[in-house]
Amino acid sequence: MLCRAGQIRRCAASLSHTISKVAASRQKHTLPDLTYDYGALEPYVSAEIMQLHHSKHHATYVNNLNVTEEKYQEALAKGDVTTQVALQPALKFNGGGHINHTIFWTNLSPNGGGEPQGELMEAIKRDFGSFQKMKEKMSAVTVAVQGSGWGWLGFDKDSGRLRIAACANQDPLQGTTGLTPLLGIDVWEHAYYLQYKNVRPDYVKAIWNVVNWENSQHSADPFWLGTQDVRGKKLKRNRETGGYPNTGALKYNKVPSSAADLTSLWDGAIPGPKRPCPKSCSSWWSCRRKSINT
Ligand SMILES: [Fe+2]
Repeated sequence: MLCRAGQIRRCAASLSHTISKVAASRQKHTLPDLTYDYGALEPYVSAEIMQLHHSKHHATYVNNLNVTEEKYQEALAKGDVTTQVALQPALKFNGGGHINHTIFWTNLSPNGGGEPQGELMEAIKRDFGSFQKMKEKMSAVTVAVQGSGWGWLGFDKDSGRLRIAACANQDPLQGTTGLTPLLGIDVWEHAYYLQYKNVRPDYVKAIWNVVNWENSQHSADPFWLGTQDVRGKKLKRNRETGGYPNTGALKYNKVPSSAADLTSLWDGAIPGPKRPCPKSCSSWWSCRRKSINT
């Protein structure tokens, strides 16, 4: 009997180890592929900048985030609160770097530029007066970031309004301000110095030519479709699910901002364009539904 109990304990320990390994491997963050070539945003952003920015800088955030999370998990398992607290800055910096850049790549497109359409444009006009005024305000706020950071166009769920914000370093927009990111502009020098040297305003002016407004509109879709219609008009049902996405889609659309959220981050969970998902979903909406239900 004792022998059998020992076998069960060993089996359980082995199973636990296997589950931990599987769980650990599932939680590893990966560098997302770009949906366009490094040179596709020229002449506004050079291929050299894109290649270094994506394959070196973003990759470093991903690698360091994985290392930090591993240490955090160990500290959690040991009940080592001191180490957990000590790891917070690295988690914020590298987690924020991964989140911000993942959003940034989807905010850009070789077919971008111009102006947004539909509900997003209506909200911009309502909250800023005109698209041009929003562009001028966001450019000014972004250029004025001291040192390294980001300029953002975000959505305030509480007020139902669009807002412009600046974040220092790699502070993620939602995690630090509560705003849902629609469009981000990276003004770390690694994003522009090789091409624009110290003239940050020229880089910010140029990047509007490759802004992927379709992506920003897509990120805002749950708000237009859900209960928080910014114009105060009647609710709309989701095109494919028939449901109101403010319960499911909004939850799924949440940009991870905490350690717990970060562990659930996988490519595609961040608001953005349709991406291949691990479950081979045929569409973004059905992908959302499957992920919510599993
Ligand atoms: Fe960057």
